[in-house]
Amino acid sequence: MVDAEIRELMQSFVLSDYQVQELYKRFNDEISKGLNRTTNALANTKCFPTYVQDLPTGDEIGKYLALDLGGTNFRVLLVTLKGHHEDTVESQIYAVPKELMIGPGVDLFDHIAECLAKFVEKHDMGSAYLPLGFTFSFPCVQMGLKEAILARWTKGFKCPGVVQEDVGRLLREAIHRRGDVDIAVVAILNDTTGTLMSCAHRNPKCRIGVIVGTGCNACYVERVDRVDLLKPEFKRDKKHVLVNTEWGAFGESGQLEFVRTEYDREVDRTSLNVSSQLFEKMVSGMYLGPIVGLVLLRALENNVIFKRDSKRMEFAAALRANPNSFHTKYISEIESDLFPEFTITRGILQDLFGTEKASIEDCLKLKYICECVAQRAATLIGIGISVLLNRIEEKDTVVGIDGSVYRFHPKFDAYMRKTIDKLAKDKIYDIMLSEDGSGRGAALVAAVASKQK
Ligand code: BGC
Repeated sequence: MVDAEIRELMQSFVLSDYQVQELYKRFNDEISKGLNRTTNALANTKCFPTYVQDLPTGDEIGKYLALDLGGTNFRVLLVTLKGHHEDTVESQIYAVPKELMIGPGVDLFDHIAECLAKFVEKHDMGSAYLPLGFTFSFPCVQMGLKEAILARWTKGFKCPGVVQEDVGRLLREAIHRRGDVDIAVVAILNDTTGTLMSCAHRNPKCRIGVIVGTGCNACYVERVDRVDLLKPEFKRDKKHVLVNTEWGAFGESGQLEFVRTEYDREVDRTSLNVSSQLFEKMVSGMYLGPIVGLVLLRALENNVIFKRDSKRMEFAAALRANPNSFHTKYISEIESDLFPEFTITRGILQDLFGTEKASIEDCLKLKYICECVAQRAATLIGIGISVLLNRIEEKDTVVGIDGSVYRFHPKFDAYMRKTIDKLAKDKIYDIMLSEDGSGRGAALVAAVASKQK
């Protein structure tokens, strides 16, 4: 148990039942707004039709290249679909240097094409013609499967010259400039779409794909008659389409103000995209660590943690000098740590402040701070998933999910389920961790697209 002071400090992170219900209602309204042609322009959650209309059957076969750009790493993959729900993946991770994340778009695409060419050479595929699925995890207006206009950059990216451009064209041009590989970009998709497709490949009940990683988003299977923005010719033969909600943008019209804290505002103020992606900034890996860092700083300033440590103000100064030094992975590590040794927590405090031996009491307090921030994030994601579950007409649905926050946090899944159990009472659901969703999903979208032809 922690004392009243630290509880009081964290009170603003604890969502009441009323707040949860109100958030559910606002979230649901926002999704309706996004799907409707007349209100879409005002909606934060743009609910982009993806033009993916078929889930995999499991019998897809063939070799596909996939690119995965959007998180902390960039990956090139060779996916071999073998039918019978089976596949193999060979992949290579490439770093995206910080300067490329904010430098001219053409440099970024040249870098991607270079990595792609190296990969093809290494795998001795120089002469083969290969279809490629491009998982590009940013908000895009899709004009079809192969054309995706970037609406805005999010997370750590801000390359000039790409917004309002077709990223498929930019990639094709970069490949063409090199002239050493013969690759056809046959599909562009979001990582949530990839996650949904890759989970559906293993379990046909999957209808929702969620990412809680560096950024956060979800897509789901919607009835075509409810998706105003889908071109009419895509409604004739098919009943459903995958919708990329881009729910990370929720809150940009003020809907989250009644729950946002001063720490959320500060994280936003110092971000690359001020006033954007406000929901994402309360739940995803790029921001959770810095939120805890700011709370910890306040706790030090108010003398509610490290009370008996003469270096308390020095610790505060260290955190103030580098507010992002509290990494999101620390939250998962601290919440997994064992009482009363707190070996991991003490190691982190040593790294942050050089303090030799933090007391059990202080370790418990830090753990409580992490718990409140992570629990709020999981509750918010649980609200979003419930909204989608209740929209889908199936009684029994699987949610495919991926991302470092979900994957590594010991209690995120349990916190999320607690909320879903309350808000989607009539639904039977399961949550499935996606394996290699972005890459396998890109291959599956490419394969399903070539089947249609
Ligand atoms: C992007 C989404 C993406 C999510 C997870 C967000 O910042 O806007 O398109 O799906 O991050 O990667």
